[in-house]
Amino acid sequence: MTLSERLNHIVDLIPPCECLADIGTDHGYVLIHCISKGICNKGIATDVKKGPIDIAIKNLKKYRVINKVDTRIGNGLLPLKEGEADVIVIAGMGGNLIANILKEGRHIANTAKYLILQPMQNPELLRKFLVNNNFKIVDEDIVKDDNKFYHIIKVINGKEEAYGKEVLYYVGKILLEKRHPLVKEYVDYKIKGLEEILKSVPKDSLRFNELAYLLNEFKEVREWLQR
Ligand SMILES: C[S@@+](CC[C@H](N)C(=O)[O-])C[C@H]1O[C@@H](n2cnc3c(N)ncnc32)[C@H](O)[C@@H]1O
Repeated sequence: MTLSERLNHIVDLIPPCECLADIGTDHGYVLIHCISKGICNKGIATDVKKGPIDIAIKNLKKYRVINKVDTRIGNGLLPLKEGEADVIVIAGMGGNLIANILKEGRHIANTAKYLILQPMQNPELLRKFLVNNNFKIVDEDIVKDDNKFYHIIKVINGKEEAYGKEVLYYVGKILLEKRHPLVKEYVDYKIKGLEEILKSVPKDSLRFNELAYLLNEFKEVREWLQR
């Protein structure tokens, strides 16, 4: 089975574990890969809808790992029992939805060693939620797949200081610290996008000021990266 670039980078951040839970599993590829490669011994595949779970079951059977995976229908982390999964993946959903899933299932998230989160949009909302809610970001990756950027965030339960600058929630502090090879391209892409949006925002509005401030922070980051 060949994984997409996005899924490849997600599985690269998953540490060896006993039980991996894949929340919003859809096709089930993350678990199929991790069990086949011995990254985890067993897994739990969940989805809020029956259709995706049926697809996952079909694929888990096809790749002969169905006996190692429990499949469950339900919302977010709620189909899991506390302490059942030592690593939890929540990938392919919006940053806001992932934050809500963590909020509603906090008692379950608390019992996992690591959570691997991959927002499709608004990574900044998710990072802000994490930092303000006692999740500590311990590693990050960014990947470009099909001409789109995807952030992948690995967290543990633990305290993290609020970021001094708004832009850090957008770019990712760890991606900057490690000068990730894609981070400059991402910053350039965001600068271009912000400049474009600003053209259509009234100059005397609060929104204009906020966006202009953020654009300035992005430009400072670009300068820092060029040093
Ligand atoms: C775009 S797919 C992502 C599949 C896979 N995780 C990936 O990254 O490729 C999103 C999946 O999340 C499921 N989903 C959406 N909201 C959910 C929730 N609150 N709890 C569990 N699953 C959810 C959807 O039904 C869908 O199958």
